[in-house]
Amino acid sequence: MGVAPARKALGRALIFLGPPGAGKGTQAKRVASQYGVPHLSTGDMLREHVAQGTELGGRAKPIMDGGGLVPDEIVLGMVEERISRPDCEGGFIFDGFPRTLAQAEALNRILDRQEFGRPAVIYFRVADDVLIRRLTGRRTCKLGGEIYNIYNHPPRVDGRCDNDGGELIQRPDDRPEVIKERLAAFEKQTMPLVGYYEALGVLEPVDGAAGISDVARSVAGILSRIEAIN
Ligand code: AP5
Repeated sequence: MGVAPARKALGRALIFLGPPGAGKGTQAKRVASQYGVPHLSTGDMLREHVAQGTELGGRAKPIMDGGGLVPDEIVLGMVEERISRPDCEGGFIFDGFPRTLAQAEALNRILDRQEFGRPAVIYFRVADDVLIRRLTGRRTCKLGGEIYNIYNHPPRVDGRCDNDGGELIQRPDDRPEVIKERLAAFEKQTMPLVGYYEALGVLEPVDGAAGISDVARSVAGILSRIEAIN
């Protein structure tokens, strides 16, 4: 895929919604760099707290290790603080947030307060067997966070990031028994958001089971359409 023109206008909150392993992070990194806006992964923020040993990280770690969802008030506080920073003025991409109806409703209020208006929501649909294979094969760069997969998107040198040579690691929650819990949490707590955003008229489904470049093309098509409408 060619390099997209830099710094298009996003000017809104873009939400990447989908189950664990759907490719939200992979696509969010691409779109964030094309539009020059921050990629806000609540999972990455929480893992950062865990790595730094903060009080918040201490509360989140056992929940994340078990595949459950961290309480709404922890996540909402973190998100509201983050999007009030100046680098979010031109819009931003949420990856893995919101994940409960309470988070989605609170986000609407935050976006109103910060005068962002309605978000756009891209929903990545992928079947469970595909998700399990992707998650067990995922490796992430310890330095820059670049995402690989040993089955279908391997690095050039085994165990090392193509970009910066950083060590590639496996996430602790990518063990099969935790993946099962994460998929169950998605089904129960996050799936209702599909109907919620559909009713608001802002849901854009994509076939997330297609290859990475094909999914990227679908996402780009949706974003061009949204830009043309607004
Ligand atoms: P989080 O970090 O958000 O994890 P997740 O939602 O489970 O999603 P993943 O990061 O696992 O998957 P992804 O969709 O980004 O896929 P990726 O692009 O990496 O959350 C972790 C935990 O934090 C949660 O369990 C919870 O405890 C807590 N948390 C986070 N946010 C929270 C919130 N809002 N509220 C409460 N708790 C919260 O791709 C996966 C693999 O597939 C990669 O190897 C990639 O190379 C490959 N791949 C991607 N796309 C394709 C493709 N199209 N074809 C083939 N392979 C592909």
